[in-house]
Amino acid sequence: MFSHEEIKKRVAEYAADYVEAGMTIGIGTGSTVYWLLQELGKRVQQGLHFKAVPTSRQTQTLATELGISLVDLNNVDQLVLTLDGADEVAPGLQLIKGGGGALLQEKIVAAASRQLIILADESKMVNVLGRFPLPVEVIPFGWKQVQKKIIQQLGCQLVELREKNGETFVSDHGHYILDCHFSQITDTPELNEAIHNIPGVVETGLFPNMADIAVVGYADGRITTT
Ligand code: 5RP
Repeated sequence: MFSHEEIKKRVAEYAADYVEAGMTIGIGTGSTVYWLLQELGKRVQQGLHFKAVPTSRQTQTLATELGISLVDLNNVDQLVLTLDGADEVAPGLQLIKGGGGALLQEKIVAAASRQLIILADESKMVNVLGRFPLPVEVIPFGWKQVQKKIIQQLGCQLVELREKNGETFVSDHGHYILDCHFSQITDTPELNEAIHNIPGVVETGLFPNMADIAVVGYADGRITTT
């Protein structure tokens, strides 16, 4: 049986085959993408040439260290594909993302891509979204108003301001993150829209109908593509 970390590494190595010479791609953020970057870095050393738009400062830094060529999204018309992780994947490839706080840039990059390919281990696969608290990126000014509206208007049980090392977490773009405990999300596009309608919301971690393929790894060694 493979450990959690080994599954992520195997999925990343498998998914790296989607990257072909000459492509311009998006690269996500997180611990699964860490392994993807390691694998792509090796392939660059072996002569694979491609360009990438990173979805966070973390990915930008690691990709640069590994010799992966980066490009500004403003200098690209469309990305061939984006490879990224997810916090939950439900039937129909509905996603919750943003556990690492990079949801805004991840969503912009995914929306600029012809294909969004999600790398997941079996623990991420769920029947209904919502066990993982939904991240919502907000403007710091008046964030408690957004918190109140998500609870009162959208029936969320608990909305927590994200902290890291005892301090308020601040995203790469200077925003706060509210982690919203809905418990069950069955209406992904509708909830995404309803949250967007609250003034002060920048982006939600719901990715409705955005993913095209999920590469899923299992402890017994299987890797499936959906
Ligand atoms: C970061 C994300 C990540 O893709 C998500 O949190 C999954 O990360 P990991 O591969 O570490 O489980 O959305 O904002």
